[in-house]
Amino acid sequence: MKIILLGAPGAGKGTQATRISEKYGITHISTGDIFRANIKQGTEIGKLAKSYIDAGKLVPDSVTCEIVKNRLAEDDVKDGYLLDGFPRSLYQAEELSKFADIDLCLNFEVDTDLLMDRICGRRVCSCGESYHISTLNGATTCAKCGKQLYRRDDDNPETVKARLDTYNVMTAPLIAYYSAQNKLASVKCGNGTPEEVFKAVCEILDKYGK
Ligand code: AP5
Ligand code: MG
Repeated sequence: MKIILLGAPGAGKGTQATRISEKYGITHISTGDIFRANIKQGTEIGKLAKSYIDAGKLVPDSVTCEIVKNRLAEDDVKDGYLLDGFPRSLYQAEELSKFADIDLCLNFEVDTDLLMDRICGRRVCSCGESYHISTLNGATTCAKCGKQLYRRDDDNPETVKARLDTYNVMTAPLIAYYSAQNKLASVKCGNGTPEEVFKAVCEILDKYGK
């Protein structure tokens, strides 16, 4: 299956992507993770992306669309993939439709007043696992792989506010865009736990697969 994970910053796209990928064996592609890997490696793409990410803005479409197009041409995604964080604008969605035929767009509907706390309390691991300080009980290492947890540079209140504004203006219109194509499935997360949200996701995916 070719699936888009849509949702505001902190909606739980990455958290659910890990679970979906493990259960259904679908490759997880996160444009945010790709940019952060480039920043870490000091590539030209990383240098360019960093200024936009730190400001809570979208990295230019020319760069982002090219990265995704190349990634989707690789062998390991022939049978499907989870796109986490792409597309993020109507322009990107139109570009995507030129080189991919998406089956489903899962839209994570979360109470917006939860997002700031979720993101600012997030701690991540380089293995892809993500936690919140409220459930870490003081732990500073990853329960899955033992590596040191860290806070993303863009997880500070000022940048999060800009990211939420960018989402509302640029990304939210994609809900209507995929709904008009009958490809939208809403996951009503409310304030449900990651496990409860995953149960709702599985119900949608299992129904879709039948
Ligand atoms: P990206 O890395 O995609 O960040 P984002 O969209 O802002 O989303 P997040 O990763 O912050 O949130 P998430 O939904 O994955 O939530 P998570 O599961 O971690 O993009 C970063 C930047 O890269 C962008 O700002 C942009 O600059 C650039 N970029 C990326 N893609 C681009 C594109 N296509 N075009 C242009 N630029 C692009 O969960 C968050 C926290 O909540 C965690 O602590 C988690 O443990 C917790 N949590 C999750 N679910 C629950 C739950 N149900 N209950 C309680 N806590 C929960
Ligand atoms: Mg994420």
